[in-house]
Amino acid sequence: MTRQELRAGLLDAYERQMGLCDRLEEVADSLPGRLDRQQCLHLARMIGPLIRRAHAAEERELFPHVVQHHEGGAELVEQLRLEHVEDECFAEEVQHELMQIGQGRTDLAPEATGYMLRGFFEGIRRHVRRERELLAEMLRTRPN
Ligand SMILES: [Fe+2]
Repeated sequence: MTRQELRAGLLDAYERQMGLCDRLEEVADSLPGRLDRQQCLHLARMIGPLIRRAHAAEERELFPHVVQHHEGGAELVEQLRLEHVEDECFAEEVQHELMQIGQGRTDLAPEATGYMLRGFFEGIRRHVRRERELLAEMLRTRPN
């Protein structure tokens, strides 16, 4: 895989995750009065596959390089992998709640749903920023 392809694939994975975060923020901001239920159902269907696909690409393309070339890379990658596992579990909870509010039958108060959504997308944004820095570092140091 060339440097260009690598860069494009990973940048795409990060773009998609950040786009998802923006749309979840729109949902959180729209609670409870301006909620777009169709949008919630759409996001519920896409969130799991989007996150899992992005993580798989990162673990395949970025992590081996970090282990090899970054000081303390093995520990760092272990931490990032753990965050992937946690975020995938959290994504399942968010998916369930999006489905519930999309169907108009949630048990949670709007504040609780908003709190859950914000906890999720703020965590993803932090994580993605960190990995984007690592990708930028990798692209600076990789020979071809
Ligand atoms: Fe990641």
